[in-house]
Amino acid sequence: MDQAELLRAMKGMYRDYCGIGLRNRQKKRDKDIRVIAITSGKGGVGKTNIAANFAYIFSKMGQRVLLLDADTGLANIDVILGIAPEYSLFHVLHGEKTLSQVTVQGPGGIKILPATSGIQEMAELSGDQKLTLLKELDGFIEDLDFVFIDTAAGIAENVMYFNMLAEEMIVVVSPEPTSLTDAYALIKLLYHSYGAKRFKLLVNMVTGPGEAKDVYGRLNNATDHFLNLSIEYLGYILCDKTVHEAVKQQTMLVQFSPHSKASECLFMVAEKLYQERPEDCESRTAKILGVTNAERYKC
Ligand SMILES: Nc1ncnc2c1ncn2[C@@H]1O[C@H](COP(=O)(O)OP(=O)(O)OP(=O)(O)O)[C@@H](O)[C@H]1O
Ligand SMILES: [Mg+2]
Repeated sequence: MDQAELLRAMKGMYRDYCGIGLRNRQKKRDKDIRVIAITSGKGGVGKTNIAANFAYIFSKMGQRVLLLDADTGLANIDVILGIAPEYSLFHVLHGEKTLSQVTVQGPGGIKILPATSGIQEMAELSGDQKLTLLKELDGFIEDLDFVFIDTAAGIAENVMYFNMLAEEMIVVVSPEPTSLTDAYALIKLLYHSYGAKRFKLLVNMVTGPGEAKDVYGRLNNATDHFLNLSIEYLGYILCDKTVHEAVKQQTMLVQFSPHSKASECLFMVAEKLYQERPEDCESRTAKILGVTNAERYKC
């Protein structure tokens, strides 16, 4: 199947089978679940760390969370969490295992769906494999509150697919100009070819809020001017060498160093993300008032 055929098949698949993403499919069954993709144009901007830490924080909030490693060709979640799962999505897509058989328990009670590294075939899933995974996930996530999808970087079909499974997309950028141009390319493609309209921007590795706002302003100006599309500002994460330390220790940052600068930012952004469900946030915010973020989430 060539690129064009695959694109047509994917679009057909969304129209005929999904029509809508995972969250709305669940909503039809009265399940309120949020499926959030953490994505980027440029690689190495912090997606995997952010996805894993969000999953952990939300799990500590008492939410039932799944962390899906959607970097199917070069999986990283298992590495940064220091786990060695026996099976992965590869076995599911080959009909050898079910999703529940390959899911492993991660820190803080998160469920993890691991991927594989170095298997060429997994780097680009076929149309059939995408459909199989969608059907499997649809049933599998029924009892969950949040699904975080850690995508690969770039604009490959796999990245498009996993972004479209989620109804919420967090685009991660760093202050480097190449990160911005690549984020613009990703947003443009998702908008033009897949009709995605809501993007949240998370600016990582910044020196302060001013730099983050400046990065956001530049990208938003470009999408506004060329696509007539506004993107939302989700927040920022400070550049912090503690992140490297946590990665080296194969531990989640908010667990390893809950009071570090980057952890504080992660807590703040997680809180904002969570509060987009107003009915939940009111009672919870009252409960947690007056304690530090780290205490709040028992990290
Ligand atoms: N806030 C931060 N401060 C300092 N270093 C960071 C920060 N966030 C991430 N990093 C570092 O950036 C590197 C890339 O992080 P990560 O693997 O999470 O990025 P990624 O976007 O998932 O990469 P890829 O596109 O390859 O999957 C790691 O070395 C990590 O320690
Ligand atoms: Mg990654």
